[in-house]
Amino acid sequence: MRIILVGYGVVGKGVTSILTQRYNEKVKDGFNPKIVAIADIDGAVINPRGLSPEKLDAIKQKGYPISADPEFGVPGIKALDVIKEVEAEVVVEVTPVNIQTAEPAISHITQAFRTGKHVVTTNKGPLALAMPALTELAEYNNVVFRFSGTVGGGTPMLEFAKRCLIGDRILGIKGILNGTTNYILSEMSQNRVSFQDALSSAQKLGYAEREPSMDIDGFDTACKTVILANWILNQKVTLKDVDRVGIRDVTLEMLDEAAKRGNSIKLIGSIDGKNKPTVKPIEIPKTSPLCVSGVLNAVTYQCQFAAEQTIIGRGAGSIETAGAVLRDLLDIRHKLASKLLT
Ligand SMILES: NC(=O)c1ccc[n+]([C@@H]2O[C@H](COP(=O)([O-])OP(=O)(O)OC[C@H]3O[C@@H](n4cnc5c(N)ncnc54)[C@H](OP(=O)(O)O)[C@@H]3O)[C@@H](O)[C@H]2O)c1
Repeated sequence: MRIILVGYGVVGKGVTSILTQRYNEKVKDGFNPKIVAIADIDGAVINPRGLSPEKLDAIKQKGYPISADPEFGVPGIKALDVIKEVEAEVVVEVTPVNIQTAEPAISHITQAFRTGKHVVTTNKGPLALAMPALTELAEYNNVVFRFSGTVGGGTPMLEFAKRCLIGDRILGIKGILNGTTNYILSEMSQNRVSFQDALSSAQKLGYAEREPSMDIDGFDTACKTVILANWILNQKVTLKDVDRVGIRDVTLEMLDEAAKRGNSIKLIGSIDGKNKPTVKPIEIPKTSPLCVSGVLNAVTYQCQFAAEQTIIGRGAGSIETAGAVLRDLLDIRHKLASKLLT
């Protein structure tokens, strides 16, 4: 499988590392991933015979862009042109999230669809703003679109619902979908620190950005709620349909009152099939499996037959999220193989 990687940051490097390891191990399952191009903001490296990430890392460490590679570097070329011109089966899109315009990812993804390439992304932006249109465009172009790493990082929250709960009817979904806000609320309730102090601690530990609005105002959770609503409950919703409240106004007094009732306050994304998706700080029993602490994420699926099913795991991380990309690539390979057989 020939792969074009767009974005060579935290997740992009995790992807090259996992795929190179697999390629070198020559795992005998017929899946031979080969990264034929990597594009970032400055240009690209292109080699139809496959690229060596070790060399690219060395170039990056010296402070040069990857396109400075003397053998395969193409400085200045746009990712859109790489996607159009380089022969490959799949584009892996891992550029930064943008919930205003979804760019540059949405253009990369649609370019890939139009040129007959399957897409794997970990970028929530395009899905939050245009998931119904993008899934339709993928179908129209007869390509596969996968985005496992957008919800739960490496934890297979989407696959768990789609595959393990197949045949059941999922009636509702509730999730702690953002590790940063969960860390802040856990710190406040367990160590009795103020919201501001818990936020500063999250920033020092690298869990929160210097501009933390995406997390603490609930946008990140809302994006993931949109993805769950579309993919699991077939609702055609986008970010503007989510009723959203962040955690800025949660106080120590509110957490104390909740604790007296045996509850914790958590930022929960909810979808129930009847009402608009919501993101709100709400009280949940401390005994609930959904009530996880620290940076953990958790989702509970309310099912017709299997009742409540909860999946818990780390919601981010380079290798974890790259693992989700690998799962998606294998899923695409499986789909292509079964198409050939039928
Ligand atoms: N990190 C995680 O644990 C995690 C988990 C789940 C999902 N995600 C999502 O995965 C995506 C990637 O995350 P990340 O942490 O890897 O981000 P990152 O470290 O900021 O890397 C982004 C990469 O995209 C490149 N880029 C920026 N604009 C571009 C453009 N116009 N064309 C081509 N490349 C461009 C950047 O190049 P420069 O460095 O040269 O600017 C960089 O190589 C994001 O959407 C994020 O929300 C991340």
